[in-house]
Amino acid sequence: MPLVSMNEFLPKAKANKYAVGQFNMNNLEFAQAIMQAAMELNSPFIYGVSEGALKYMGIEYTVAIAEAAAKKSGLPIALHLDHGSSFEVAMQCIRAGFSSVMFDGSHHSYEDNIRLTKEVVKAAHAMGVSVEGELGTIGGVEDDISVDEENANLAKPEEAIRFYEETGVDCLAIAVGTAHGMYAGEPNIHFDIIQQVANAVPVPIVLHGGSGVPDEAIRKSIQAGVGKINVNTENQVACTNAIREVLNKDAKVYDPRKYLTPARQAMVEVVKAKIELFGSSNQA
Ligand code: 13P
Repeated sequence: MPLVSMNEFLPKAKANKYAVGQFNMNNLEFAQAIMQAAMELNSPFIYGVSEGALKYMGIEYTVAIAEAAAKKSGLPIALHLDHGSSFEVAMQCIRAGFSSVMFDGSHHSYEDNIRLTKEVVKAAHAMGVSVEGELGTIGGVEDDISVDEENANLAKPEEAIRFYEETGVDCLAIAVGTAHGMYAGEPNIHFDIIQQVANAVPVPIVLHGGSGVPDEAIRKSIQAGVGKINVNTENQVACTNAIREVLNKDAKVYDPRKYLTPARQAMVEVVKAKIELFGSSNQA
């Protein structure tokens, strides 16, 4: 099966109250682990690729790996640019074979974000490519999400609804209290914001910063209208811990396959647990 747009599975996810996982691809082992987990559970999924990961892997390798996974698995897989910073990067990815892009205009003014996102949507839709937009600021690794300033960056429901109406994005990432990276405490997720926006727009809400969010909060988010959840850090941690364990046990190991095989297996387990939690098993 060729790579597909997120519209192949997101509308169904929203209608049936489950979420499709975006698992970030950082190298070949990540790609293989994600695909294996999804194959075992017969789930659609999204390969998220950040601009940093693109630089690391190279755009040609990235597309070739995702296409190989789609062909080998027969699953509906979207290859999605994560946090695309410009129209140009989005177009470069689409030309190279991406089936989906995120345009993150959240660092621009609200009106500029709408204008720039609209341009990406127009060009991407003409090529059958889906688009994710972002509103509000999703915190980073260092952010303490329980501090008051964080609230200042939360998405305002009425702005999010107008953003959707004007841009026509296929899914909408809104800042609701999660952050990228692991949390010091528990994230304070604003389910009321998710619910209010999800009730007013036909497309699903995207939850960024899925790593370390308690299972119950994930379930509540999905019930409120989240249909896509991004996970990266938990796979990175599982991968690195497995490698560290092998190397700590035996300082003489030099064959990368000796530590990358358990690293890949550790990521399979993480992704399978997320797919089961998100409810997308047997939805391929
Ligand atoms: P985590 O690294 O916190 O899982 O977040 C991933 C993400 O949101 C990518 O956009």
